Amino acid sequence: RPRALSGIQPTAGSFHLGNYLGAVRQYVALQETHDAFYMVVDLHAITVPQEPAALRANTRLAVAQLLAAGLDPERCTLFVQSHVPEHAQLGWVMNCLTGFGEASRMTQFKDKAAKQGADRATVGLFTYPILQVADILLYQADAVPVGEDQRQHIELTRDLADRFNTRFGDTFTVPAPHIVKEVAKIYDLQDPAIKMSKSASTPKGLINLLDEPKATAKKVKSAVTDTDTVIRFDPAEKPGVSNLLTIYSTLTGRTIAELEKEYEGRMYGALKTDLAEVMVEFVTPFRARTQEYLDDPDTLDVILARGAEKARAVAAGTLAAAYDRIGLLPPR
Ligand code: TYM
Repeated sequence: RPRALSGIQPTAGSFHLGNYLGAVRQYVALQETHDAFYMVVDLHAITVPQEPAALRANTRLAVAQLLAAGLDPERCTLFVQSHVPEHAQLGWVMNCLTGFGEASRMTQFKDKAAKQGADRATVGLFTYPILQVADILLYQADAVPVGEDQRQHIELTRDLADRFNTRFGDTFTVPAPHIVKEVAKIYDLQDPAIKMSKSASTPKGLINLLDEPKATAKKVKSAVTDTDTVIRFDPAEKPGVSNLLTIYSTLTGRTIAELEKEYEGRMYGALKTDLAEVMVEFVTPFRARTQEYLDDPDTLDVILARGAEKARAVAAGTLAAAYDRIGLLPPR
């Protein structure tokens, strides 16, 4: 079986709809076809200030949401990044292979640093993509399911894997991004020109999966569309409507063409009302399942302990090979 690996940050509590449609759904699907490793990246989270108690709680909450979304610890390896020390260890090696200019070109760093205020951004935030490189290479991943915003980081991973292999001999699998075009970028409901995100979206534009379902329905009903009246998939001319159609199609498994046909001659309000209902039907059981996992911390701990053990078995082998290749003296 090919390997898949991905990670998600625990930072903000609830996952948002972009995380789910762009990434987590693909994690669930790839369990069936891949030897899959998924982790909550707490070491990535601390690249910006975190309140310790909140970070701990949000890490558990992220795990609970991954399970609620359909990750099955019998079919994938689910773990917390900091439980596997090899991430930080290989991260250092990768730091030493990355050019300063190369790291400076990462657009997510530039965006996030600008948001923090240039002087407040940490060195950790700067080297964050390089830790991500280590995350992926440790597992010899073939496929990395992510949204479009992570593409540049996967490109960097490929470059560094090639560089290491060329310089020191074949060691790492060169991974490919697994980006599902239709859902690679879910847009803000209030501003369909920007992607849905915790940091950039207004509360009304952001669908948090764990929000009160009624509030979610309200956000869908007040989504920004356009002054035209036709319900048609056309991202360039009708970004708001197209985003709603994408979400609707993905959550129901119905094609965009089917939906266009069904809503022919009908008003935007009808589409929004129906989609609001679809969304409520999705988030209601999702919230309940998340809560069930949170209510059973022992089970969660056991899942994470087993996950870390399985992950370490792979990561330790890769790290040892990499250390050996670059000439670090092995301890006796
Ligand atoms: P993070 O936690 O910001 O986001 C998790 C996943 O959600 C995707 N995503 C979206 N997809 C579609 N539309 C959107 N509006 C949207 N917003 C977010 C992201 O692309 C991501 O796949 N650096 C990563 C975490 C990471 C990682 C890794 C990923 C650390 N190590 C190794 C893959 C492999 C991040 O911050 O994702």
